Amino acid sequence: MASEVTRRGFLGTAGTVAAAGAAAGVASAQPAEAGRSKQIKIIAVCCSPRKGKTTFASLQVCLEAAKAVGDRIEVELIELAGMKIDGSLAAGLPLEPGQKDDFPELVPKLSDPSVGGIIVGTPVYFGNMTSLCKAFLDRCMAFRKNDFALRDKVAGVLAVGGARNGGQELTIRSVQTALMCQEMILVGDGAPTGHFGATVWSGAEGGVTEDEFGMATTRNLGRRVAEVALRVAGKVGSG
Ligand SMILES: Cc1cc2nc3c(=O)[nH]c(=O)nc-3n(C[C@H](O)[C@H](O)[C@H](O)COP(=O)(O)O)c2cc1C
Repeated sequence: MASEVTRRGFLGTAGTVAAAGAAAGVASAQPAEAGRSKQIKIIAVCCSPRKGKTTFASLQVCLEAAKAVGDRIEVELIELAGMKIDGSLAAGLPLEPGQKDDFPELVPKLSDPSVGGIIVGTPVYFGNMTSLCKAFLDRCMAFRKNDFALRDKVAGVLAVGGARNGGQELTIRSVQTALMCQEMILVGDGAPTGHFGATVWSGAEGGVTEDEFGMATTRNLGRRVAEVALRVAGKVGSG
């Protein structure tokens, strides 16, 4: 798993939102085309500003469950921590002189036709997503402007809070609202928990992986995203 769920460090590439599409190459093909290739990739994007912490650990569990759906599922975990992503560039503002912008590195990776599902994971900050997560979602305007390059990719959301009921569901809905604008296919955590996404409590004794209910929703989310991604690719049951 360690080799498959990697932390990604990306080289900085200067560019505006418009340049993100043009220079970094937004792929326009949709998951249906991915069905013709063997592997379907599920990418998790970790939106905690802290590397390798509770959201990262939860997403690892989520991707393990996705991978277990079948040998045609590949997984990758991208950490935004340490990356420079300025949400205001989504409004068309120019880069400041010397300003670093790492978002363009994500563009070809997320829009690649082999990507069948994207799971966004964020800590709960005052009942909502982190500012890093919001900046990332705002910059996803680049996909919308490039013929909805994330269209029909499956989307799932995971939220980690320090309290058992600290706003995980509110946070999930907020992220889902932005993802709906991308024409993505939103799913929640699959049965038997079957609600809005993965709701994790980082205050559990022993850490997030000891949060029995949260981990159940996390595994169900990973499985559900992978299963629906396979269906969209037209390869149900052959994984
Ligand atoms: C600014 C800030 C606001 C927070 N607000 C909430 C909150 O509203 N509800 C909650 O359950 N936890 C809240 N927390 C706790 C974090 O969600 C929790 O520690 C989480 O596990 C952090 O994720 P990470 O370890 O991946 O960084 C907050 C933490 C910070 C720093």
